[in-house]
Amino acid sequence: MTELVRTRAELAAARAGVAGSLALVPTMGALHDGHAELIRHGGTQADAVAVSVFVNPLQFGPAEDLDRYPRTLERDLELLDRLGVGLVFAPSATEMYPNGSPAVTVDPGPLGALLEGASRPGHFAGVLTVVTKLLGLVHPDVAVFGEKDYQQLALIRRAVADLELGVRIVGAPTVRDPDGLALSSRNRYLTPQQRRHALALSRALRAGAEEGPSGAGAVLKAATEELRGIDVDYLALRGVELGPAPATGPARLLVAARVGTTRLIDNVPLTLGPA
Ligand code: PAF
Repeated sequence: MTELVRTRAELAAARAGVAGSLALVPTMGALHDGHAELIRHGGTQADAVAVSVFVNPLQFGPAEDLDRYPRTLERDLELLDRLGVGLVFAPSATEMYPNGSPAVTVDPGPLGALLEGASRPGHFAGVLTVVTKLLGLVHPDVAVFGEKDYQQLALIRRAVADLELGVRIVGAPTVRDPDGLALSSRNRYLTPQQRRHALALSRALRAGAEEGPSGAGAVLKAATEELRGIDVDYLALRGVELGPAPATGPARLLVAARVGTTRLIDNVPLTLGPA
């Protein structure tokens, strides 16, 4: 049976009752199969799994979708119960930020200014601040994040290493619908026609990755062709830690685009140059 806790005091009491190691899966709710996969992954990494459900106002810009972001706690709890999650922490904004916006936040540094950071100023400071708070409140041994938000995962790894946060960060592969669309809570904003257009993102990444052996130019050309007619924010080929792409070896191809009013992101691993 899943235990739902809403306050720090309830969380501390429930946490004290967890026997063995604990994996935390931080989420903003509106859970889907991608989250279920993170939770299953968490279950392979620790004796128990806790999930946080909190739509973090700090990581939304003024013109972004904070108000319309889906909030489906009852349905989320049914899913979490079916998945055997023991503990769910779903605080209110005032419970997380009792003094309003925090005066001290986590600076994401230069990596936080690229890609998503360039398009969404302040986003990663908001993410790193809430993740640091959640780690401090839940004290997990492991925390699991999806590779779908690849830059977020890279920044969380960096923050945990640079700030000695004492938790193991585990990334889990992106889950896709059979037609290739990466699962995202924001997919529910798409009309059927927009959803068809959105498939260009995963098609572009697949086409780019297939050109890996021919090098960076061929990767970007193949991906760009698939994105014709799409309102692309960025298409970027980077190293696995998001530095410059190497001439040969493992790399990451990332895309962000707007379909209707919905901003979608996706990425894939690939290998550049002759194997
Ligand atoms: O990936 C998300 O859902 C959020 O950015 C996270 C990590 C839960 C922080 O609010």
